[in-house]
Amino acid sequence: MTTVRIHEDEPYGQISPRLYGHFAEHLGRCCYNGLWVGPASPIPNIEGFRTDIVEAFQAMRVPLLRWPGGCYADHYHWRDGVGNPSERPVRLGMSCGLQVRDDNSLGTHEFLRFCELIGAEPYLAGNVGSGSVQELCDWVEYCNAPVQTDLAQERGRNGRTQPFGVKLWGVGNENWGCGGNYEAESYGLEYRRYAGMLRHVDPTAELVVCGHDSHWNARIIQTLRNHIGLVDHFSIHRYWIDCGPGVDFTEEDYYRSVKEADATEKFVQETRALLDEVDPKGRVGIALDEWGVWHPEARPWGPGGKGDETKEYFQAATLRDAVLVAVALEGFHRQCASLSMANLAQIVNVLHAPIQTSGAQMWLTPTYHVLRMSSAHIGQQAIRTSVEGSSALPDGSPSVSATASVGEEGPVLTITNRHFTQPAELQVPNWAAVCTLLSGPSANAENSAGQPHHVQPKSQKIGATLELPPFSVAILQSAR
Ligand code: AHR
Repeated sequence: MTTVRIHEDEPYGQISPRLYGHFAEHLGRCCYNGLWVGPASPIPNIEGFRTDIVEAFQAMRVPLLRWPGGCYADHYHWRDGVGNPSERPVRLGMSCGLQVRDDNSLGTHEFLRFCELIGAEPYLAGNVGSGSVQELCDWVEYCNAPVQTDLAQERGRNGRTQPFGVKLWGVGNENWGCGGNYEAESYGLEYRRYAGMLRHVDPTAELVVCGHDSHWNARIIQTLRNHIGLVDHFSIHRYWIDCGPGVDFTEEDYYRSVKEADATEKFVQETRALLDEVDPKGRVGIALDEWGVWHPEARPWGPGGKGDETKEYFQAATLRDAVLVAVALEGFHRQCASLSMANLAQIVNVLHAPIQTSGAQMWLTPTYHVLRMSSAHIGQQAIRTSVEGSSALPDGSPSVSATASVGEEGPVLTITNRHFTQPAELQVPNWAAVCTLLSGPSANAENSAGQPHHVQPKSQKIGATLELPPFSVAILQSAR
């Protein structure tokens, strides 16, 4: 019998809504033909955004949304996406090796409207690679200027008199690679110039510097050491890639993927440790602004990379992927004092998506379900949990893991059985009355257009004990 305990007197801090963020890039069918179909589409939509998607995200909760890239951001010129849609220029949409026709019908006003519809805080990623300091300053002024400048008036003519008040601004994306192939030092100097000027335009803007691996991070931190006040968030990305195929994975592949998801927490801690030297009070947040599993069928590089078979970065979305999300969220909760945001990549159809579509059809992936179940933690205080008597995974780590929070929702406890074959018999805290369980017939079970409800959570009243099937996630709450 495994016993899970929560320790209310050992808090980690608040689980900021920003830790349940998402990422929407103009890539594949994430934005165009994904969440955006345009107002003239026969698919029911609200001002161009699919109604079914808007409603599903309202229910799941999307507290934060980053846009428009990704690698796309360093080719994006915001002026192309404002004004009368029929007069907007058609450009080459470029990201991750794809080149598509991009009519700019989804631009700044549309994106920020989508954020309002789903209740998300926007996070705009600026263009460093092919843009200029002035261009990004103008975008900030256009969105946020509190006084009637020409740009603010143009914003008004385009339908929005009040400032949008966008707080989060990324200064480029992956500038060590697709965002300009910079050296850490040269990007660091660029960042200083961008951030210095952006601060004048909007002193309340929160600016995000582009990090990478520990080597790059150490170098850029040194470059910025006397200007660390210009940095509010330090961006890192973590994709899990050593996971075998998206569907036909083996038990070994499954365990390697669990290990990779688990190690995300360590990457956050290592990044924080590097920042400690120049930011001893921990003012700068770690922004894990892209994370998730990236299957080999949707990439030409990395272990097993097969190219992008769909040419859309669309990939399988199995129950395993949902278990990996639960594993990662445990770490996000524990690191909530240093992690300032985390954005799953990406929100619709691309990579580790909670929602997938095909034409007019739309279905929720197991990842959607685990995120919706976990949303009870949002805004609560994360507290320590302990697990005793668990069986072990092949690497010796416990099969059962947990994370908990307390707050307006009462105590909320997530328990994950990471084991591939064995169920776990659990003794649960005596306040826990309702359990929502996400499990399935196999770890590679997934939903699809034909079987949209194959993997679904189930709620049940529970007693003092609970059996968790292999590869499953349970959320325990007291009855309301
Ligand atoms: O999410 C897909 C791509 O992954 C993004 O465009 C880029 O930032 C990262 O390499």
